Amino acid sequence: EKGGYDYFMLKEIAEQPKAVADTLLGRIDASGSLTLDEVRIPPRVLREIDKVVVVACGTAFHAGLIAKYAIEHWTRIPCEVELASEFRYRDPILDSRSLVIAISQSGETMDTLMALRHAREQGSRVLAICNTNGSTIPRESDAVLYTHAGPEVAVASTKAFLTQLVACYLVALYLGQVRGTKWADEIRTVVRELAKISGDVERVLETMEPVRELARTLADKKTVLFLGRHVGYPVALEGALKLKELAYMHAEGFAAGELKHGPIALIDEDLPVVVVVPSPRGRSVLHDKIVSNIQEIRARGARTIVIAEEGDEAVVPYADHLIRIPATPTLLQPLVATVPLQVFACELATARGNEVDQPRNLAKSVTVE
Ligand code: F6R
Repeated sequence: EKGGYDYFMLKEIAEQPKAVADTLLGRIDASGSLTLDEVRIPPRVLREIDKVVVVACGTAFHAGLIAKYAIEHWTRIPCEVELASEFRYRDPILDSRSLVIAISQSGETMDTLMALRHAREQGSRVLAICNTNGSTIPRESDAVLYTHAGPEVAVASTKAFLTQLVACYLVALYLGQVRGTKWADEIRTVVRELAKISGDVERVLETMEPVRELARTLADKKTVLFLGRHVGYPVALEGALKLKELAYMHAEGFAAGELKHGPIALIDEDLPVVVVVPSPRGRSVLHDKIVSNIQEIRARGARTIVIAEEGDEAVVPYADHLIRIPATPTLLQPLVATVPLQVFACELATARGNEVDQPRNLAKSVTVE
């Protein structure tokens, strides 16, 4: 049942192009517009929404952080993202014009369920993004957009995460389409790019051997840092979470711009620092800033592992290890940038002799608060 792979996690990483394509299937028509019939919240209601709040835990929370960039950019509706376990305890401000999006692979996570119940009690609409048909979270929501990752067996989430991202983009683009924003042209372009993104994920998977080799050389390290900016920041958080869960190593993700506000004190000789570099096209200001971060890190003797778009030459002089990803629209980059980090964590776990599919102390679905 592992389909020839040593671990479910490896199989699930390899299934990502299909999971992504399946999650898009039937949701984009030939003209490039979106049909999300399952989202049974009338367009009239969606046009009135004045606030979006995303609640989730763990990896799903990281998908939510990325959703915020997409939702605010394409819809101009303010969006908050909150850990489900924190949400209801601060008495959040919600009403019937708030749309709450609950993201959960299993559909059974108690923290997320309690958050959505709280939201419904305040009269808000709840849209679930979920991978498990008929599970509790979608049953208790007003509407559900299913991800079609197929069953995820490995405790550490991989393919479910990529499909959560796809679902978040679809919701953001759909809201943009329904409400009609000034980004209509961009939305159409991105929808077209999204339709072919699974091929890009496939290409990343084909080039992962050097990442595995690199991971094996780092098995005796104590700490790995991850840096990113914009949507690369949640990707950095996800890379760090995967490493903690699987390799039992200390890992932290930072917003690269925060480096000078504290974390730079951690940098020393030979510390592996993974940097997710934004595209040099588009928001090139961010690109240039992150290149100077890499220079600063390198100048302190750390080992730089750089994930950058194909054709980005500016990073070459400062990268001890360079991992290439295909060029994508800015907001979609996490779909390709996360994959090397999954492979990296999985390989490091193996090199350290850990049980990849069943990390210690963790359960696949957490049904207690
Ligand atoms: C990380 C991981 C967990 C889950 C979290 C939420 O690899 O698997 O952090 O993402 O427990 O689970 P779901 O999505 O089932 O609500």
